[in-house]
Formats: sequence, structure tokens, C-alpha cells
Amino acid sequence: MASKSKSKKEKDKKRKKRKAKSMASKADKYELYQLSVQSPEEDVEFLADVYRDIRGKKALHFREDFCGTSLLTAHWIKRGPEYTAEGFDIDTEPVNWGIEHNMIPLGAAADRAILHIKDARLPSDKAPDVRCAQNFSYWVLKNRTEMLDYFRRACDDLNDGGIFVIDLHGGPECFEAMEEETEVEQGFTYVWDQDEYWPIPNEAKLYIHFRFPDGSEIHRAFSYDWRLWGLTELRDILEDAGFACVDCYWEGSDEDGESGNGIFTKEEKGENCLSYIAYLVAQK
Ligand SMILES: C[S@@+](CC[C@H](N)C(=O)[O-])C[C@H]1O[C@@H](n2cnc3c(N)ncnc32)[C@H](O)[C@@H]1O
Repeated sequence: MASKSKSKKEKDKKRKKRKAKSMASKADKYELYQLSVQSPEEDVEFLADVYRDIRGKKALHFREDFCGTSLLTAHWIKRGPEYTAEGFDIDTEPVNWGIEHNMIPLGAAADRAILHIKDARLPSDKAPDVRCAQNFSYWVLKNRTEMLDYFRRACDDLNDGGIFVIDLHGGPECFEAMEEETEVEQGFTYVWDQDEYWPIPNEAKLYIHFRFPDGSEIHRAFSYDWRLWGLTELRDILEDAGFACVDCYWEGSDEDGESGNGIFTKEEKGENCLSYIAYLVAQK
């Protein structure tokens, strides 16, 4: 009996050890987020190029609202010694993670960035040439009054000739309850979970999960409680906030026409598709 119970204990121990060593338990949710959701090189290039196309000169000071791990800020200052940046986020956890993993590796260049643990509606230390809110983070602002106030503050805070760039997604698919799985080449699955949607306030409860080949999962690694803002209403609010001109940059399609190709160009009408991503570029 004694040896039997010992072997059971050992088995339990081994099981626990196996569980403790699951791929999910070893993974870092911020690293997975950056790998699945963000394309910093492309995003920073787009922001810098749009400014140059509009103003005919280089944008130097950048501001990343809702910056989280400040990945874009890090890529902006990597452009060269004349480039400076500020990031704004209310949560110390992603910001500290970003300092460790995105900023410190840049060495002395990191001194050209200031990360504020502050609400994204607060003013910059220095007026930015380019200010952005990426990955729909500003959708935490749920009513028109709040959004108008945020956009007004963003407009007032920009340098002369500065631009404010927000991304957005839309199309009928974004109102459907569904889980979309994407295999990420680093060996895990990114899951975008559109869990619940309410049509009257146009609000949704959304999650990101990460799944691994050993069957383990980081369930609800990130949760979002957003209003799903429409492109046209956002453009109207930007205009009401005082921006002189607001343009939409629409994503082109890949060869088979099935998905976006990551190339955004200025368009007037767009294309009627199930799901799209676009930028609104607002000029002061
Ligand atoms: C989806 S993450 C964005 C991460 C990253 N910027 C990106 O593009 O993927 C949203 C971030 O917004 C921050 N946040 C939420 N409300 C905020 C507010 N009022 N002011 C500043 N940051 C806020 C959260 O702490 C979180 O880090």
C-alpha cells in the first residue's frame, strides 16, 4: 500500500510538473501580442511617409497614444538621432514590459523617448508632428462627447502642420460572434474572439487568446470592451474637432482578392467587403 500511494504521489507530481511546463505557462503574453497584432516597421514607415507626402519634409517628433509596450515609439526613435517620441498609457504593466524589452535594448537612443503613465487625452511635453492611436485602442471612448473631446485635444496639441492618424476596422463581419484563428510563424495560434455584440450601443466584448501545439492556452490574455465606431462617424467627429482635412487610406487586396496586402492608399469610396482595416489621417 505504501509504495502504491507513493507512486500515485509521484505521478501527481509529474502531472503537475508537466502542467507547469506547458507552452502557455512559459509564454509571455506581451511578446505574443506584439508578434500577432503589431507590424511596427510597416506602421512607422506608413506614418512617416504620409507626413512627408503631405508636408514635403520629415516628421521628427512622434506621439503614440494608448502605447502599451511602446513598440512603435521604439521603432520611431530607431530611425535616427533627430527622431524623438512620447508614449501615453495609463497602465504601468505593459509600459514597464516595453521599457525592458523594447527600450533598454536601444541603449542611449532610448533617452529620446518619454513614456508617460497618463491618460491619452493629456498634453504632450513637445508638440508632435505625427500623433497616432493604433489598434483601435481609442474605442474605449464610447460616446461622441468623449471622442470629440479627445480629438479636439489631439488637434490642439499637434505641432503646426502636424497630423493625427487613427486606424479602424469595419465591415459586416465585425458584428458577428466568431473566433478567428491565425497561425503565427513563431509556433502558436492567435485567436481574435468576437464574443458578444450589442447593436443599440454598437458595443462589443472582445478577447485575444493564444493557443499552443501542446493543447495549452492563454485564455483571455487581453480583453476589450469597445464601441465599434464607424469610419464615416469618426471622420465627421475629426472634422468637428477642428482638423482642416481628413483623408481615408484604404488597404489594397492581395492577388487572390481574399485579404488585405498591407498597402494603404488614399481613397474616396473604398470597397464593399466583409471586413476591412483603414486609416484616417487628419491634418491640423
Ligand atoms: C490594445 S492596447 C494597445 C497596444 C498598442 N498601442 C497597439 O497598438 O497594439 C490598449 C492600451 O490602451 C491603454 N489605455 C486604455 N485607456 C487609456 C487611456 N484613457 N489613456 C491611455 N491609455 C489607455 C491600456 O492600458 C492598453 O495598454
